[in-house]
Amino acid sequence: MKRTHIKNLHQQQGETVVINCWVDVARDQGKMAFFDFRDASGKVQGVVFGKPEVLEIAKTLRPEWVVEVTGIVNERNVKNAKEFKEEVAETGKRDFFVKDVELEITDFKVLNKAETPVFEVTESTVNTNEEVRLKNRYLDLRTERMQNNMKMRHRVAKLCRDYLDENDFLELETPILTKSTPEGARDYVVPSRLSPHNFYALPQSPQQYKQLLMTSGMERYFQFARCMRDEDLRGDRQPEFTQLDIEMSFVSEEDIMQMNEDLLIKIVTELYPEKKIQQIPFPRIPYAEAMEKYGNDRPDIRENKDDENLLAFCWVVDFPFFEKTADSDDPQAQGEWTFTHNPFSLSKPEHIENLKNKENIADIMAAQYDICLNGYEIGGGSVRAHDPEILKSILSILGHSEEKIQENFGHMLKALGSGTPPHGGIAWGFDRLMMILQNERTIREVIAFPKNGEGRDPMMESPSSVSEDQLNELHIQLKQIKKPQ
Ligand code: AMO
Repeated sequence: MKRTHIKNLHQQQGETVVINCWVDVARDQGKMAFFDFRDASGKVQGVVFGKPEVLEIAKTLRPEWVVEVTGIVNERNVKNAKEFKEEVAETGKRDFFVKDVELEITDFKVLNKAETPVFEVTESTVNTNEEVRLKNRYLDLRTERMQNNMKMRHRVAKLCRDYLDENDFLELETPILTKSTPEGARDYVVPSRLSPHNFYALPQSPQQYKQLLMTSGMERYFQFARCMRDEDLRGDRQPEFTQLDIEMSFVSEEDIMQMNEDLLIKIVTELYPEKKIQQIPFPRIPYAEAMEKYGNDRPDIRENKDDENLLAFCWVVDFPFFEKTADSDDPQAQGEWTFTHNPFSLSKPEHIENLKNKENIADIMAAQYDICLNGYEIGGGSVRAHDPEILKSILSILGHSEEKIQENFGHMLKALGSGTPPHGGIAWGFDRLMMILQNERTIREVIAFPKNGEGRDPMMESPSSVSEDQLNELHIQLKQIKKPQ
């Protein structure tokens, strides 16, 4: 018999059905046995009575065993079943735990047994030791809260995909094995066997590739891009995270901001109707004002911080293009100009002459924007320098010699000089957006398999050592680790 998903059981009242599921709860009451069964679509109660041979099997079943259950779908009329039905009538939505029907069990087949789980998966694990959760992530992901976080992550991603597709964007992939780019963080590097002593870098973002796709005439690109940055970790920072990365040709700052605002509003109104956006259109706060009024460039402008359903989006704009490096690791570099966001940005139109002539550098404003939500930076982007002469000026202000510019950026300059349209884009920190939408405290709660605070995966036990043979093949000899003094 074909399997019925638990959420659809109410459509087969009175019929004999088969469900494939986990034993969520098992309650042995002597002559009867009660169960809650769970599949990815829902939870339902099952009961065994008057069938000694079925009861015998029922008594052996333990939580988290995987079973095939045959039974008759009966309507329930107890108090909470009535409440459930009233709520469905009112909201049109059916809760995960379906209470209007139950299964009168006629047969069981055990598909797999399970060891007793190290923590209760029938309850939220929000306060369970996180190291234990990560070590047993496959169990943690069975909890209703984590299942819901993953489902909503999928739904938001799908809505974005559909919206961008309808607006003529192409979803394209860019390489994971790539080259070091000057984006501010430390690179993860990968040794090359075929080019000994050479290394790929994992992408910190697809920045250069997405711009090259504009050179390639794609006009509109997006990607759910995995980005890798070797940084110190925080609740809103992972070494490996996901950006919704977007780039568009023939657009102004205004066009990009408008489209992103439209998409963010659509996500909230369609998928989070219980949430309220504080202000539409999203307020725009100049960088200088944000620093002065809020002391940071990701202002939390919520009028009421107790309301978990309040979403206060704002744009931060008017960033200075350059700032002096006060605290660079390299003493030689201290006091030199560095970029505040992205070396590939363009200045505001009124400052292009200054950029070309390398004059009044501190006053040059960038055509950049950050999107912030409830005190988090959830995205950032810019209009790019599409004229190779301007990019050269920027790189020279940043202190790169002509020789270094050619060595590191020759390919970009060549591409820009081959008929690159004016273009610009943005990247959302998709994990951060999901964390806030799901009212979670860290992005680890909305990532299926995140790393812990030390950048390790306690379940896979990565990173790990590799064999002498693997190192030899890569011509790598390990140095002694110096003990900290
Ligand atoms: P940026 O470096 O600002 O821009 O990154 C875009 C957004 O990505 C998120 N983010 C992170 N999320 C989780 N863990 C991290 N370690 C992490 N680092 C960044 C933030 C941030 O706003 N290429 C440019 C975008 C562009 O100009 O189009 C870029 O990567 O929410």
